[in-house]
Amino acid sequence: MKKFIASVMFALSASVMTTAAMASGGGVHLEHADVDIHNKASLQRGVKYYVNYCMGCHSLGFSRYNRIAQDLGLTDEQVAKNLIFTRDANGELQKSGALMKNGISQKDSAEWFGAPPPDLTLVGRSRGPDWIYSYLKAFYVDPSRPMGVNNTVFPNVGMPHVLWELQGFQEKECTKEGEGEHAAEHCELKLTKAGSMTPSEYDQTVRDLTNFLAYVGEPAALNRKMYGVFVLLFLGLFAVIAYFLKKEYWKDVH
Ligand code: HEC
Repeated sequence: MKKFIASVMFALSASVMTTAAMASGGGVHLEHADVDIHNKASLQRGVKYYVNYCMGCHSLGFSRYNRIAQDLGLTDEQVAKNLIFTRDANGELQKSGALMKNGISQKDSAEWFGAPPPDLTLVGRSRGPDWIYSYLKAFYVDPSRPMGVNNTVFPNVGMPHVLWELQGFQEKECTKEGEGEHAAEHCELKLTKAGSMTPSEYDQTVRDLTNFLAYVGEPAALNRKMYGVFVLLFLGLFAVIAYFLKKEYWKDVH
């Protein structure tokens, strides 16, 4: 019986480990995104970059403009002016209560890019912030690909390097280390053509975008943890009251 339990435990932990490895990008080294969903300024910059650079292809179909406005402290006017660029079926600009869908056709885009751009509402949870952060920094020039770029975190990705104006272009440089059987290739991405931002400014931009995607995957997380603290405080206080109540009731028995 003990053996059986041990083997079940082993199988379970092995499967948990492989799922974690798959979610983390299959062996590629991921950089730590270091995001903070309570940093409102970062989220506000993130949503602005998102609607400008990503929304054309990737909808956020489980999120509404006004929910984001409320959580990020934006006024209706700011939302209308800075966030809403997509039109509804009648050709009118979307209303602030609308779901953040775009007009791109899944069929056409699958032909253009080889794969349709997925909805990104939940990507912060399925891929995790470190993956997204590393992915947006991992585009490099590869003339053999249809879009002229490839990605070390997501090899042969169909997405073009949409942030190239900001980051510039990177190239992959590989050096061989060791001899014979022990030879290993070590590759690095080098910035060969500068963009409008310095590398650290670009990192911050990508961090803001990642932060926004982490937030939008679970907006309730903004409040959930605070409730947790209150619940623990209440339980702590109640334990003291319960203890004295118990003492009072049992006073005559002992
Ligand atoms: C021109 C269209 C286009 C734009 C603009 C675009 N993407 Fe993409 N993106 C794609 C396509 C196509 C894929 C799917 C690639 C594939 O499966 O090969 C993709 C995939 C992704 C994925 C991986 C999703 C997954 O889990 O597989 C992420 C994350 C992503 N994009 C983030 C972004 C962000 C952030 C922006 C804005 C900075 C952006 N994309 C802008 C076309 C686009």
